[in-house]
Amino acid sequence: MIGADQDPAALARTRKRLAPYRGRFELLHESFRYLPDRLKERGDKAFDGILLDLGLSSDQLADASRGFSFARPGPLDMRMDPRTPRTAASIVNGSEEKTLRAILREFGEEPHAARISRAIVRERGKAPIETTDRLAQIVVAAVPPARLGDRTHPATRTFQALRIAVNDELAALEEALDGIPELLAPGGRLAVISFHSLEDRIVKQRLRAWEGACTCPPRLPVCRCGARARVRLLARRATRPSPAELAANPRSRSARLRAAERLVEAA
Ligand SMILES: C[S@@+](CC[C@H](N)C(=O)[O-])C[C@H]1O[C@@H](n2cnc3c(N)ncnc32)[C@H](O)[C@@H]1O
Repeated sequence: MIGADQDPAALARTRKRLAPYRGRFELLHESFRYLPDRLKERGDKAFDGILLDLGLSSDQLADASRGFSFARPGPLDMRMDPRTPRTAASIVNGSEEKTLRAILREFGEEPHAARISRAIVRERGKAPIETTDRLAQIVVAAVPPARLGDRTHPATRTFQALRIAVNDELAALEEALDGIPELLAPGGRLAVISFHSLEDRIVKQRLRAWEGACTCPPRLPVCRCGARARVRLLARRATRPSPAELAANPRSRSARLRAAERLVEAA
């Protein structure tokens, strides 16, 4: 078994947890975007199973010093990998207003992206925004009062957007998926657990493409895209947590699992 995480703290915890199995696994400090190439270079391929458990861990969220949570005062960091040059603070204090607006819109699907980015630019003019609690207060003050009664905190989408931008999460997922079919043995399975619709959309579209769905424009009389089936989907729809899972693990509520099996005859 080979495990990878870009967060060294996650690797340290995992190494401890898997101590009874020492010698039977290897852990790599690596973004999964580079993993397919790294594994192929080493001659590792034909995996029976690949699991991508995406996003943020509860440990990362709970650690105030990592800056992921609007509910925990801490530095506005949000890097999963400490080697990443950009922090959330550097994006918040150094990006043009239109870039901030695009980040909030694209990665947070934030309907009040314009108001929030305007407020950020105004407030950072007074003093740089360096902490999670100050940013959360700025967002709360910027959104329309009606939003304050929502079930989710008004800063949820802003924090999600910045985290995705800092860690370049969507591009990393696309790049990892690019290399995965070749890593699977015939009959090997890929399972991906995603936690928001942006990730799930990427996974769903990619699995459909591997399934061989033709992507030619409908007006073409014959297929020109060379669609060929490489996998079969293990379920057409995403699997959601059961009521029992939700009761035992409420943080699973946004999880969606999609899985596919590499076809035996695939080239
Ligand atoms: C939902 S948690 C998974 C927790 C893990 N299954 C466990 O039991 O400890 C997501 C993990 O993925 C890691 N991660 C997110 N994006 C990554 C990437 N591009 N490359 C490597 N690890 C990544 C995060 O650092 C985090 O530890």
